[in-house]
Amino acid sequence: MSLKQDKGSLKTVYDKFFDIGAAVNPYTLKHSESLIIEQFSSLTSENHMKPALLQPQEGVFTFDEADQLVTFAKKHGMKVRGHNLLWHNQTPDWFFEDENRKPASRKLLLDRLDTHISTVVDHFKEEVYCWDVVNEAVADEGEDLLRKSKWLELVGEDFIEKAFEFAHKANPNALLFYNDYNESDPVKREKIYKVVKSLLDKGVPIHGVGLQGHWNLESPSIQDIRNAIERYASLGLKLHITELDLSCFTWDNQRTDMEAPTDEMLNKQAERYEEIFNMFREFSEVITSITFWGVDDSYTWLSDFPVKGRKNWPLLFDEKKQPKASFWKVVNF
Ligand code: GLA
Repeated sequence: MSLKQDKGSLKTVYDKFFDIGAAVNPYTLKHSESLIIEQFSSLTSENHMKPALLQPQEGVFTFDEADQLVTFAKKHGMKVRGHNLLWHNQTPDWFFEDENRKPASRKLLLDRLDTHISTVVDHFKEEVYCWDVVNEAVADEGEDLLRKSKWLELVGEDFIEKAFEFAHKANPNALLFYNDYNESDPVKREKIYKVVKSLLDKGVPIHGVGLQGHWNLESPSIQDIRNAIERYASLGLKLHITELDLSCFTWDNQRTDMEAPTDEMLNKQAERYEEIFNMFREFSEVITSITFWGVDDSYTWLSDFPVKGRKNWPLLFDEKKQPKASFWKVVNF
């Protein structure tokens, strides 16, 4: 297929393959509004559906910003992915402490998790069709399967299945995902596979695996991504690419002197996006949604991470919201 350069929109070109989403926040919803409407068929809230923002104090639920996102999505006929119900980050301390500020008991923490998940999933029951129920529970390094966290310490390993059960109880129609990063690394891939498989073996209601896709110009290799997709798909689950971006810098690159990307970076990025989307299309039976972690290069979390204040250009549209070479490679195939 070949599109005229002025006719390309991600969501129309990819309509028959998968949903194309973007993570948004109140700032980008305002400043990149027309691009979002034109290009994307699905939205994820970058932060406002996380525990810290939805329930900053026990029993005090703050839905306003998330509701605005949902209203926007509805108005423009977009789907909404819910992100996320349980994470070791961006979860307020009160969750983990009792009234004497001592570590919460297993029962107290599970009751709070149930209340949080039931309230949130029920609130968005009509509009949010899938949830990242548990985010990043698997350990990157060492022999341990699960990362050290307050959830693991205070509840035990079954905190994962409990979260899925609570979500399923609150909305039996929602598709429930386990979501993680470094998902294409062969060692972590096998750990994720093992955790998800054990959930399935126990009959836990889980329907998909989210591959975050925070990648860069060098890694992971296309082969490693392919192997990860095949491995997770072999579990019979749907896959979503949930947080795609291609950093212009490798993880250990600390340079901070660049004001703009080089042509070499942009060309390399375009090549990588092309290869990646060529492969995604091959798997359109199992991959049903691809979400970019941002809209355009005028705002990206990577301009503050892992090097504070270092500008980065990981998305398909530039800082002026114009399509980059990467965009054209993704829509022209
Ligand atoms: C992780 C989380 C996301 C987001 C990114 C960084 O990938 O899943 O919610 O916080 O980190 O922006």
